[in-house]
Amino acid sequence: MAKALENPFRPGAGHMPPYLAGRTREQEEFRKLLAQDVVLQNVVLTGLRGVGKTVLLDTFKPEATRRGWVWVGTDLSESASVDEESLARRIITDLAVITAGITVEHVEVRSIGFRPERSRLPVRLDFNTLWSVYSNTPGLVSDKLKAVLDLVWAAVPSTGKQGIVFAYDEAQNMADHAEREQYPLSLLLDVFQSVQKKNIRFMLVLTGLPTLFPKLVAARTYSERMFRVISLERLAKKDSRDAVTKPVADGPLVFTPRSVDVIVEMSGGYPYFIQFICREVYDAWIQQVGKSKEASVPVDEIQQKLDSDFFAGRWARVTDRQRELLTVIAKLDSAESEFAVLEIVEKSKELLAKPFGASHVNQMLNTLSESGLIYKNRHGRYSLAVPLLNRFILRQLETDKTLWG
Ligand SMILES: Nc1ncnc2c1ncn2[C@@H]1O[C@H](COP(=O)(O)OP(=O)(O)OP(=O)(O)O)[C@@H](O)[C@H]1O
Ligand SMILES: [Mg+2]
Repeated sequence: MAKALENPFRPGAGHMPPYLAGRTREQEEFRKLLAQDVVLQNVVLTGLRGVGKTVLLDTFKPEATRRGWVWVGTDLSESASVDEESLARRIITDLAVITAGITVEHVEVRSIGFRPERSRLPVRLDFNTLWSVYSNTPGLVSDKLKAVLDLVWAAVPSTGKQGIVFAYDEAQNMADHAEREQYPLSLLLDVFQSVQKKNIRFMLVLTGLPTLFPKLVAARTYSERMFRVISLERLAKKDSRDAVTKPVADGPLVFTPRSVDVIVEMSGGYPYFIQFICREVYDAWIQQVGKSKEASVPVDEIQQKLDSDFFAGRWARVTDRQRELLTVIAKLDSAESEFAVLEIVEKSKELLAKPFGASHVNQMLNTLSESGLIYKNRHGRYSLAVPLLNRFILRQLETDKTLWG
C-alpha cells in the first residue's frame, strides 16, 4: 500500500498514538516531581483501562533522562509479587541492566561481605555482584535489598547521574499475601521509604488501574503522604478533536467537522476508543479511495465491532444476577461518574420486581470489584472500571429484551 495511505491510528495496549493529545498538565506535574531535591513524593499514575497510562509513562522516560535521572523498570506481572524474594529479584534484575557497566573499588565491596581475595579486584555491578551482595547480607529481605540499593547509590555519582526512577506499570498486580506471610507490596513501600529518608534519590513511579492507590494505602497508611496521585481522565473535547484530526492533517483523508463530532461523542473522550474508531473509519475510507476525499463514519458497524472486540468478552463472564445489577447501574444518571450503594438500591426498586437489598448490593459490588468491572474510590463511592460499559449495557438492552421485557 502506498505510504500516504497507511493508517496512522494505533488502537492497542501501550502503542504510542500518532498524536498524543492533552496530558500537558500531567507532564508538568511529573516535571515538578523530578525537580525534588530530596524525594518526598513518588508518583502513582492511575486511570481506567485504555485511558493512556502506559503511553504517558513512556513520555515520562525521556523527560527524566534529560534531567539526569536513570530510568529502570518494567511491567509488574503477578509473578513479580508472589513473594518478597521475587520482588527483590525483579528490582535487582532491572537495576543490573543499568549498573552492569559500572565498576566499583574493592573497599566498598569488602565492607558488604565479599571474601577478601575476591575483594581485591575491582568489581562490576552486574546482576551476579548485586545478587551476591543481596545473598550475603544478613537479616530480612528488606535489609538485603536495602544493602543492594545503598551500594548502587554509592556508585551513582561516578556516572554523573543524579538519581534513579523505578517505573512499574500494571502495579495494581502487586499484593501482600498474609496467608503465606509474604508481604512484597509492603516491602516495596518500606524499602523506598527507608532509602528516601537517607536522601537517596530513588523515585518510585507506579502505574495502574484505580485499585492501585487504595491498595497501597491499605498496605501502608503512610502511602497517602508518600505518593502524588496523577489521575488520568478522559480527554477534554478539544483534545479529543486534536487526537482525531492531527494525525491526518497532512494526509489525503479529511474528516468533516460532523464526522469529528460523531467520533468524539462515540468515544466519550477515551483515548483507546478514539484510536479504535478512527482506525476503522480510515480503513473504510481506504476501501473507497477515489470516490471521496471525505471520510464518513459507519457508526453502527464500528459500534458493533467495538462491542464484540472490547465489551463482549467482559460481559460474557458476568452472571445473570450481576447483569441485572450492572443494568440498574447503567440506568443511573451518574453511571459514568460515581454512585453509592443506596442509589443502586433505590433505582432497583423502580426497575425490578425483585429489587436488591443494600447488603446484597454491597456483596455483589465486592465480587465485581475483584473481577475488575467496578472499583471503589477513596471516598467509598463506586465507579464502573470499564470505560463506557454503561452505554454498552444499554445497547444490549435494546437487542436483548428477554431479560427486561
Ligand atoms: N493522549 C492520547 N491521545 C491520543 N491517543 C492516546 C492518548 N493516550 C493513549 N492513547 C491511545 O489509547 C490507547 C490506550 O493507551 P494505553 O495502552 O497507554 O492505555 P492504558 O491506560 O495503559 O491501558 P491499560 O489500563 O489497558 O494498560 C492506545 O491505543 C494509545 O495509542
Ligand atoms: Mg497500560
